[in-house]
Amino acid sequence: AHAPLVDQFQRRISYLRLSVTDRCDLRCAYCMPERMTFLPRKEVLSLEELHDLALGFIDRGITKIRLTGGEPLVRRDMMDLVRALGRKIGDGLDELTLTTNGTQLDEFAADLFDAGVRRINVSLDTLDRERFRKLSRRDSLPQVLSGLAAAKAAGLRVKLNTVALKGINEGEIAELVAWAHAQGFDATLIEVMPLGDVEEDRVDHYLPLLAVREDLERRWTLTPSDHRTGGPARYFDVLETGGRIGLITPLTNNFCEGCNRIRVTATGQLYACLGGDERVDLRAALRSEDPQKALSDALDLAMRIKPARHHFAIDRRGQAPALSRHMSMTGG
Ligand code: GTP
Ligand code: 5AD
Ligand code: SF4
Repeated sequence: AHAPLVDQFQRRISYLRLSVTDRCDLRCAYCMPERMTFLPRKEVLSLEELHDLALGFIDRGITKIRLTGGEPLVRRDMMDLVRALGRKIGDGLDELTLTTNGTQLDEFAADLFDAGVRRINVSLDTLDRERFRKLSRRDSLPQVLSGLAAAKAAGLRVKLNTVALKGINEGEIAELVAWAHAQGFDATLIEVMPLGDVEEDRVDHYLPLLAVREDLERRWTLTPSDHRTGGPARYFDVLETGGRIGLITPLTNNFCEGCNRIRVTATGQLYACLGGDERVDLRAALRSEDPQKALSDALDLAMRIKPARHHFAIDRRGQAPALSRHMSMTGG
């Protein structure tokens, strides 16, 4: 392998979040508008290009790849890519994983396991069917629950991701966590982030996790855990449930000092930070005369422009989102 990826703040970058599509079969209100404009299909990298890209990253010391979306499992022939990358596990890759909304897991959970995936993160904001339908604008809760059961049956470890939303699911968070723990799943709570225009004002639903944590601590005994996945969550063990809660607090707290990741969109744009516009065009590199060298040079450039930290704020009504692109572009 060639020189590892280290940025100007001496952070070693070992985690790639690779978005394979910006499309999604849900329309979560905090994520995208009902009439979302998606990327023209011809702009999106082919599966072969995504594969070559991933190999280029592995060659530069990336050991963890998370496939994201939009919803990664709505992309046609996705399992071909998963299987191909699965062959790199133990040969450069330590972990291949996925962040999914769970709607397609019934069909794919067993195949994912067979391809070498051992752990997935599934987004789930509520267990109430009507609330789910309102929030995601689709009546897909039964499908997600059966997908989660399929994941468990296939032997996949599951972490639930729940965006904490004032006036929407705030009264249900403890119940959701207890349910997750009873299923043997980890539960992670996330603060809503100001990414892309949506139909509502995110300020109205922003719920600082410090308050949520205090509420959970009145119910349960939480102790800080040394569990680390290399992600932004900080974990707590819950004595009473025997499970783990992760908190992702981009607004109230900062985890940027230890950032180990970069993200690439489905069109091959590398974003050096979720919260910034610094980017490098990897598609141009892939389509150049000497793709291997061009890609490696592009990654060196990415290391020079990666910012120290993001600056998010949700504090004023009517405030424009910090960034114009939606989470579904960069997959988080
Ligand atoms: P693990 O490997 O299980 O630690 O997963 P992860 O937390 O890295 O990934 P996941 O896709 O589950 O992301 C959970 C949430 O964290 C999503 O809402 C992401 O948008 C958010 N997130 C991921 N990376 C970053 C980051 O670098 N900065 C910020 N602010 N949020 C992030
Ligand atoms: N703020 C916080 N989390 C978001 N997600 C999507 N959009 C946002 C946002 N604006 C979450 C999804 C999923 C994860 C990948 O990102 O719910 O769990
Ligand atoms: Fe789709 Fe995830 Fe966005 Fe919901 S949060 S619309 S599931 S990409």
